[in-house]
Amino acid sequence: MLNFDFYNPTRIFFGKDRLDSIDKFVPADATVLITYGGGSAVKSGLIDKVKTVLGNRKVYEFGGIEPNPRYETLVKAVEIVRKENIDFLLAVGGGSVIDGTKFITLASSYQGDSRDLLKYGFTPITSEVVGNKVVPIGTVLTLPATGSEMNSGAVISYEHGKFPVMSPLTFPKFSILDPTITFTLPKIQVANGVIDTFVHTTEQYLTYPVDAKLQDRIAEGILQTLIEISETTIAEPENYDARANLVWSATVALNGIVGAGVPQDWAVHMIGHELTALFGIDHGQTLAIVLPALLEVRREQKRAKLLQYAERVWHIDSGSQDEKIDAAIQKTREFFESLGVKTRLSQYGVGADRIPVIVEQLKAHGLTALSETQDLTLDISQKILERAL
Ligand code: NZQ
Ligand code: ZN
Repeated sequence: MLNFDFYNPTRIFFGKDRLDSIDKFVPADATVLITYGGGSAVKSGLIDKVKTVLGNRKVYEFGGIEPNPRYETLVKAVEIVRKENIDFLLAVGGGSVIDGTKFITLASSYQGDSRDLLKYGFTPITSEVVGNKVVPIGTVLTLPATGSEMNSGAVISYEHGKFPVMSPLTFPKFSILDPTITFTLPKIQVANGVIDTFVHTTEQYLTYPVDAKLQDRIAEGILQTLIEISETTIAEPENYDARANLVWSATVALNGIVGAGVPQDWAVHMIGHELTALFGIDHGQTLAIVLPALLEVRREQKRAKLLQYAERVWHIDSGSQDEKIDAAIQKTREFFESLGVKTRLSQYGVGADRIPVIVEQLKAHGLTALSETQDLTLDISQKILERAL
């Protein structure tokens, strides 16, 4: 097992009817800015319920944070935070709203041009950069997928790129995870969430073995849970138990537990981000396109873990090593397609002629040495994209 630091201070309130916890964990004298997305949380009545729980606190609202939250939108909220002396941010939404709110808090404390914060990549932004008085965040999660409700990361869109932003200062103080709040999700968003959770897990599991037995078993537990419940949670959105299992799987897949002490890849995400930035393909769908193709191209580097994945997750016990790996990749693709998500670039209207521009963008963003071994060059990314057509 590799050395690791583990830190996760986010308090979780899980289950039905947990909004009351907001009253206990937002200071009574706080001036609160509620952030939300394009309106689903208004339509469902959730924002009104949150405001009721906040009672007499002074409350401002900032709606309109779009999927793949954009820098230009978020800086408008920064103005409100500064002008109204906001001292608590309450994000009500999916990964985009929560990520956007993490950026709002960092940018509100930063003295310079906040576009600077997009340049740090996976290097954590510390109090030396933004000071140690960032406005705390709480979240009410409406979409199980990103794990943003219990981690310190965000992904912000600016011009033609998606930029990771990491900071220990942006862990939510608390997150409300009420599966019933997610019942209103369109089926495609649930499918996207299953795939995002699946691929967060594989990014931290399908690498090379370091004898991290517990982390491997937790990863396999998440993958098997997703395989077990996904059909039900898509077909029966109000099946509480199925949805509760998805919500907690999504959170645990990216709260640091699976990735502690193991190599991590993240190439599927980095290539996927370019597909969203260039063609507007949903995050989960980009992962469904890239993962099967990447596993085919990287089968030698990942051979040992792919065999473990085939045997333990898909119960493929017969055949040669290569046959087992082929079958596991095929089952992965079929699983994504069974959720109603297409796994080929061409099915999204992106042909071979667009591959050079994707590779060009990877280069422009410095993504020239990806993967758990940093040997995934632009040439290999190109091969993966060709395999994904
Ligand atoms: O904007 P509204 O009207 O609320 O509609 C949203 C949006 O259109 C809708 N929605 C959310 N909850 C709903 C609902 N509709 C009905 N009922 C509900 N309960 O769903 C749509 C998508 O929402 P979004 O927040 O964009 O989805 P998701 O949670 O998948 O977040 C995707 C973003 O997270 C980033 C992605 O790059 C992308 O920008 N990621 C963040 C990560 C992190 N912070 O750790 C890791 C991930 O890998 C990911 O990259
Ligand atoms: Zn993701």
